Amino acid sequence: MSGRLSNAASPAVPREVPKDLLTVAALPHAFVKRLLTLATQLKRAQRNRRRQQLLVDTTLDLYFEKPSTRTRVSFEAGINQLGGQSLFLSSSDIQVSRGESIADTARVLSRYLDALVIRTYDQSTVEQWAREASIPIINGLTDLSHPCQALSDLLTIQERKGRLRGLKLAYVGDGNNVANSLIEACAKLGVSISLACPRGYEPDQRIVDLCRHDAEVTGSHIDIHDDPVVAVTGADALYTDVWISMGREREHARRIKTLAPYQLNERLLKHAKPDAMVLHCLPAHRGEEITAGVIDGPQSAVWEQAENRLHMQKAILVELVTRARQHRLTKRKRP
Ligand code: CP
Ligand code: NVA
Repeated sequence: MSGRLSNAASPAVPREVPKDLLTVAALPHAFVKRLLTLATQLKRAQRNRRRQQLLVDTTLDLYFEKPSTRTRVSFEAGINQLGGQSLFLSSSDIQVSRGESIADTARVLSRYLDALVIRTYDQSTVEQWAREASIPIINGLTDLSHPCQALSDLLTIQERKGRLRGLKLAYVGDGNNVANSLIEACAKLGVSISLACPRGYEPDQRIVDLCRHDAEVTGSHIDIHDDPVVAVTGADALYTDVWISMGREREHARRIKTLAPYQLNERLLKHAKPDAMVLHCLPAHRGEEITAGVIDGPQSAVWEQAENRLHMQKAILVELVTRARQHRLTKRKRP
């Protein structure tokens, strides 16, 4: 393993970094920058076939109450590439489904594992896991947020554009979990974000209010419109996500109708900068939130975006697990 890689996981991790990754907003700015740097190094190391075994003897568990392709596979592949191993549990696999408390389960799992990725419904559920577990808890998506996605997306934008500060990202469609985390990540890193959502489908107002402070510090803006053309005008990157998120299936007909004017299509793309990149967290529904011509077109960065989940999440694992180990060692050494 190269010295540069191990330096990135050195003891200089800022003290105020939380044990868990539950939201982007809760992470110090310096830590987010550090994740971007380490993810870039890990990606380069993998491309150059350099060893990346920074987490030997590490066991990661994924406990998912909703389906997943990217999050599950990229975390499992990532921990394996780092020299550790993973196991996957769905909601029907563990006794929580039969009434065992999260508190008892988290205490037990903390004695077997080094970190746990949770995909669930309520944000309060991942927060409870984080309070009860002594190991790092990573939010693998809730109804409110998707921090690993947003961090990876900022990596993709940085790669394509060579910088983050001063750029404009436009998000059109449902102001959902992905939109909320993008607002947090953009405000933290100095990217202005302009959202166009129909009335009733705006992002979470508490998150917008909370992020105004970060945006002020980084000199960026958060704007919410109902006109997609206004939002995308002059944008460096365009983003959309599904109209029917997991758990919203019963609202299908209403959502398709209300969100139809917010489709990311060739007409809308013309209002962005000519070199604007197109992002979608996937899975995509061509003909609904995005047209085939746009997602499969020359401005699309979605496959690189999907790949970057792997590199960013490896960086997250290295940082959080290394820090948790150091913390345990320090505690043990105390008289
Ligand atoms: N983008 C994303 O999180 O995809 P999955 O639902 O497949 O994990
Ligand atoms: N907003 C989507 C994201 C899927 C990765 C959902 O929650 O289903």
